[in-house]
Amino acid sequence: MKAIIVYDTKFGNTEQVAEGIAKVLNADLIKVTEVDPAKLKIYDIFIFGSPTHAWNMSGGMKKVFNKLKGHSFEGKKATAFDTKLNTRFAGNAATKIQSKLKKLGFSIAMKPVHFFVIGREGPLADGEMEKVKAFSTLK
Ligand SMILES: Cc1cc2nc3c(=O)[nH]c(=O)nc-3n(C[C@H](O)[C@H](O)[C@H](O)COP(=O)(O)O)c2cc1C
Repeated sequence: MKAIIVYDTKFGNTEQVAEGIAKVLNADLIKVTEVDPAKLKIYDIFIFGSPTHAWNMSGGMKKVFNKLKGHSFEGKKATAFDTKLNTRFAGNAATKIQSKLKKLGFSIAMKPVHFFVIGREGPLADGEMEKVKAFSTLK
């Protein structure tokens, strides 16, 4: 099973998580700006990770889903993660990403995972990187 992680980052925290997940899964890792739909056919498992911006995914990640529109990912597995503040009204990017994934025909392989940052620019809260281990269930 070949896996790919597509991520966006502004301050580096989401990138750090993406790199951690890539190690767990031995997955390829690309930034949102590098996405070419034609090159995605070889992958079986897709993981999309975004910082939470205004209760939603980042602008860069929104562009990815615009690019993927019209392509079918039936039979492929996917999930999402985000980085976000750990407050009640923070919203999150990953739930929004999951609904895009369903529309593209992906089967949702696991619940979205939220990684908490301490402030707008990070860093990740203590122990958050431990959560990357959850992605080993996708192997
Ligand atoms: C423009 C902007 C809007 C943001 N909006 C939210 C938000 O609605 N909810 C939230 O939890 N965090 C919000 N944040 C904080 C981000 O979640 C945080 O910057 C991000 O997790 C850091 O990831 P990165 O280092 O990969 O960019 C916002 C940050 C920016 C820059």
